[in-house]
Amino acid sequence: MHVEASTKWGEASLDKKRIDRESLDEIERVTLGHYDRNAESFWLGTRDHDVSQNIRAFLQALSANFDNNRALDILDFGCGPGRDLYTFKEQGHRPTGLDGSQAFCAMARQHSGCPVLHQQFLSLDLGKRSFDGIFANASLFHVPGQELPRVLRECHRALRVGGILFMSNPRGEAEGWQRERYGHYMEFEASKRCLERAGFSMLDHYYRPEGKPRTQQPWLAIVCQA
Ligand SMILES: C[S@@+](CC[C@H](N)C(=O)[O-])C[C@H]1O[C@@H](n2cnc3c(N)ncnc32)[C@H](O)[C@@H]1O
Repeated sequence: MHVEASTKWGEASLDKKRIDRESLDEIERVTLGHYDRNAESFWLGTRDHDVSQNIRAFLQALSANFDNNRALDILDFGCGPGRDLYTFKEQGHRPTGLDGSQAFCAMARQHSGCPVLHQQFLSLDLGKRSFDGIFANASLFHVPGQELPRVLRECHRALRVGGILFMSNPRGEAEGWQRERYGHYMEFEASKRCLERAGFSMLDHYYRPEGKPRTQQPWLAIVCQA
């Protein structure tokens, strides 16, 4: 794999070099290739993960803004093999998946029976005011920092008034390749700045896993409103 010096894993703030178009394409191609090749083992390793705290936080925020009696249009952004699509559907909602991995799209359709869009985060086509909520569990951190403001603005545009974006990402201050996957880790303040610039208002945030000391909570979850 070809790795540009500017995209080696390292402190994000130290490396401001722009990532060119070709390297952005490579970031998506190599990361998605990794998920495609490891789709079955990813499913076996994550299908029983307990993300009920995240689903609860997301649906609670939605219930404050939308009629509780109607099925909500939910986009599962980076849905992987479809674990959470199934949960949203079981709860009476109308979820749609989105993933750049062909293998995950096929698995997610099969596991959930929901529609799944085969799209890449850097070339989204979500339309305007299409969803009540966007659930991005462990997915947005794959977007390079340079592109994140644009991707968040597209998510904002795809949400109806009062729509909710949930995101959970590994936290830290680093960006680059970790073996075959590209990642960008941010702490709360940097995430908040980015979300507010894209037009979101912060509603809540917490660290995971629940009930551990902060040093043992590598995940940051954020609930915000369009
Ligand atoms: C860590 S997995 C999380 C999957 C699922 N949300 C979950 O919680 O199990 C990250 C997901 O993002 C997808 N992904 C990563 N980079 C992507 C890109 N550039 N475009 C579209 N999907 C991408 C992967 O295919 C994978 O399904």
